[in-house]
Amino acid sequence: MRKNHSPLINGDFYGKDILSLNQFSLLDIGILFSLVNRLCDKHIFAEYADKLQGSIAALLFYEPSSRTFSSFDAAVKRLSGQTIDIRNPEVVSSVAKGETLEDTIRVFETYADTIVIRHKDVGTAQKAAAVATIPVINAGDGIGEHPTQALLDIYTIYKHTGRLDNLTGLIAGDLLNGRTVHSLLRALALGKDNTVYLLSPKELRLPSNELSEIKKRGVKLIEIDKSKDIPMKCDFWYWTRVQKERFSDMRKYEKVKNLFIVDKKFLNKFAGKETILMHPLPRVGEILPQVDLDPRAMYFKQMENGLYIRMALLLLVLGKAL
Ligand code: NCD
Repeated sequence: MRKNHSPLINGDFYGKDILSLNQFSLLDIGILFSLVNRLCDKHIFAEYADKLQGSIAALLFYEPSSRTFSSFDAAVKRLSGQTIDIRNPEVVSSVAKGETLEDTIRVFETYADTIVIRHKDVGTAQKAAAVATIPVINAGDGIGEHPTQALLDIYTIYKHTGRLDNLTGLIAGDLLNGRTVHSLLRALALGKDNTVYLLSPKELRLPSNELSEIKKRGVKLIEIDKSKDIPMKCDFWYWTRVQKERFSDMRKYEKVKNLFIVDKKFLNKFAGKETILMHPLPRVGEILPQVDLDPRAMYFKQMENGLYIRMALLLLVLGKAL
């Protein structure tokens, strides 16, 4: 396949890497969402069920994953493609023998049509994309970005509110290390007049360069550190886990973990009737299971949307959406 090195999607996904939300415009989001809507319709889905026949995706996951890995895997297979699954390449592949990232990429691009990569270091997906002659999809690069997660997040918001403009949201938890937050804020910057309240302890605030970058893009950001400052009637809440694996000092982690826990009482006190409660998952205590049956709890539906977002992205990037 032809790889297209142009960083912006600009209405044409074919052959492009998916590395950051910075590549997307509203036009691109529209193209993606309309394909997702088609895939979600089981009658229309049949038209796509064989589209990846003969295509192979290499899934290179250097960090743990449940949803992202499995949904990419399922997305490829449901479209009749196949995967090369390499979980923990540093244990099971020649990475264990000291092979460089560049050489590892050269290996998998020889056998596959696209590479989906997750790594603990910021910028690894970009590095892989720079050497790869096939499209590379960033499935999370350290504390950097997680673009496919943000796409499914804004799809979920769009499905429930009918818009990407004029939203008021709350993002809570680990805004420093949470890569999904960094991508989601970029996605929200595509709409107009969006306001996001950022709730975290001061140790886990959004990095100041990110804060000013997102503000420059037009999102109104308001940092708060107490639940009493949460505005009523948010369109969405986006809760996140404190990213334990990014801490070198576990005492610091213990101090800031689970400061904001959503239970029934908290939800009823601070959320609006229409507020949807989202979370990229896994949750580790910050949303209690007692909330799961509340109609506002959207995290499992959000996860399901991820399967369709990833199917649509694969179809578009591999030029099989027609
Ligand atoms: C997230 C991640 O890996 O960044 N998980 C996911 O992909 N749904 C969030 C997290 O691990 O907290």
